[in-house]
Amino acid sequence: MAIRTIRVMGDDILNKTSKPVKEMTDKVRTLINDMLDTMYDAQGVGLAAPQVGILKRIVVIDVSENADNPIILINPEIVKTEGEQTDNEGCLSVPGKAGTVTRPEYVEVKALDENMEPISLCGNGLLARAFAHEIDHLDGKLYVDLVEGELHDVANDEEDE
Ligand code: NI
Repeated sequence: MAIRTIRVMGDDILNKTSKPVKEMTDKVRTLINDMLDTMYDAQGVGLAAPQVGILKRIVVIDVSENADNPIILINPEIVKTEGEQTDNEGCLSVPGKAGTVTRPEYVEVKALDENMEPISLCGNGLLARAFAHEIDHLDGKLYVDLVEGELHDVANDEEDE
């Protein structure tokens, strides 16, 4: 178990485009496990590799109530969206802040799993929001550029993505 340092807004790496993962290696496996540890430790519902300083297209998400249902996405792509949802959003790289962001209500993604096997996943609501938010990280995009109105301060116990 290893918790990695989460990069915060202002760190250039968060604005860079991540590179696809070509093969599963021990190093990538360790990175994924560390990303999960780091996400759970920070009580987030999602984390992208550039947030721990690695420019690889890897995302971990867990929107389950008990934080016991991790989703691992390698080289994810959004293949379909439907509808709209407007809600509060936060990010572990923008600690203590949140803002209103409109995202698709429904998102379908294709990706590779941790065995480099193709997978398709879909989600509504918070999961759809997490897919969109985390995949944006892989293209160097932060939610703060999508916020309607102003960022506001949040209490420490609110969920961050
Ligand atoms: Ni984020």
